[in-house]
Amino acid sequence: MKIAMVGSGYVGLVSGACLADFGHDVVCIDKDQSKIDRLLEGVMPIYEPGLDALVESNVKAGRLSFSTSLADGIAGAGAIFIAVGTPSRRGDGHADLSFVYAVAREIGQSLANDAVIVTKSTVPVGTGDEVERILAASGTPHRFSVVSNPEFLREGAAIGDFKRPDRIVIGAEDDFGREVMQEVYRPLFLNESPMLFVNRRSSELIKYAANAFLATKITFINEMADLCEKVGANVQDVARGIGMDNRIGSKFLHAGPGYGGSCFPKDTLALLKTAEDYESPVRIVEAVVKVNDSRKRAMGRKVLDALGGMDAARGKKVALLGLTFKPNTDDMRDSPAIAIAQSLIDAGVQVAAYDPEGMEQARPLMPDVTMTDSPYDAIEGADAIAIVTEWDAFRALDLNRVKELARAPVMVDLRNIYKPDDMRAAGFHYSSVGRD
Ligand code: UDX
Repeated sequence: MKIAMVGSGYVGLVSGACLADFGHDVVCIDKDQSKIDRLLEGVMPIYEPGLDALVESNVKAGRLSFSTSLADGIAGAGAIFIAVGTPSRRGDGHADLSFVYAVAREIGQSLANDAVIVTKSTVPVGTGDEVERILAASGTPHRFSVVSNPEFLREGAAIGDFKRPDRIVIGAEDDFGREVMQEVYRPLFLNESPMLFVNRRSSELIKYAANAFLATKITFINEMADLCEKVGANVQDVARGIGMDNRIGSKFLHAGPGYGGSCFPKDTLALLKTAEDYESPVRIVEAVVKVNDSRKRAMGRKVLDALGGMDAARGKKVALLGLTFKPNTDDMRDSPAIAIAQSLIDAGVQVAAYDPEGMEQARPLMPDVTMTDSPYDAIEGADAIAIVTEWDAFRALDLNRVKELARAPVMVDLRNIYKPDDMRAAGFHYSSVGRD
């Protein structure tokens, strides 16, 4: 089937390349000419492991192409995916749907054949109804159905998550929508990937409920970590102990500096707004948002404490290892590193940092931070080292070299990469999250 993917960012490009790899004929569309030009030269606009090879092989096979023209891109497409951004609107946290609606209007004006319009972007409950109204108002003579098909892709693992999904959620209101989506995902459908057909609003809410629940799980273990530090328990052992109950599960129980990224912060806020609009408050998610925001700042204080407190910290140097919100991505959106760096700068601390992929995006967000070419360059002369993102590159540092380079052997491990006993035996003043 010919498939059009409108929006070639983190979601659209990965989804389009994977659908092409399934054998479909995919056109990835974006209005950003420079992004399309780079894609046509084989240059990826985002860092996602394996994406460049996947795109290259499918372009070579003639299954994947790129265009800035929506009209040309959707011509003959049986399924037209809307995968444009829905960022938090400045100020009130509502999802900004202006890009989604603009694409819906343009599709209505350009549609040249019967098609299913698929909202792949994360959109508040009821958005599909509005897209349907826009398309109906366009007066198109062609049959269309608006379907919700939320993505559950983790950055850094997006291709695997797309090709081996736990489930495919399809929110459809008619047989036309359901039949076309079965054809789109036929390769997965045949290997028994569980396709869940629900109504459109349930599908839209499933996406928010899933992310809010995952954010809640992380925030729960983060608060357990704080309690562990007070009572002398080990949060990793507590996480293992509860995670072995298959009703809880062991994933997303890694205590850290708080969640970031392009989804959890945005989607939890958007869910709060939906709940407010429908006068059905979601108080647990309200608490999750508050706790997570304050945690990022608390991590900055944790580093200052390792320097001997606010007054002692002034004029000292800290090395931040890792800036991105998680490893294997270049994405800095809502990364805890931003709040941590700011609290250190505000306390008069000099900050040097290293991140394998994120420094280009980080520079404008933290202008007072010195970016370096390696973890050891950042560590040179540091009075404390803070591990903020658990990149593999930081998991086996040469501790003797670290001690030689640093002004003081102080490490704050916000991702619990190292073992406290090992680090103290190596002569470090070592603190971490939820462990003594
Ligand atoms: C998330 C969801 O996992 C994915 O299903 C959805 O489609 C998009 O949002 P992503 O934001 O890419 O994916 O990253 P994820 O791996 O979920 O991590 C999100 C944040 O939670 C990161 O800041 C990460 O460091 C943090 N996290 C994750 C923890 O602090 N502890 C954990 O155990 C897991």
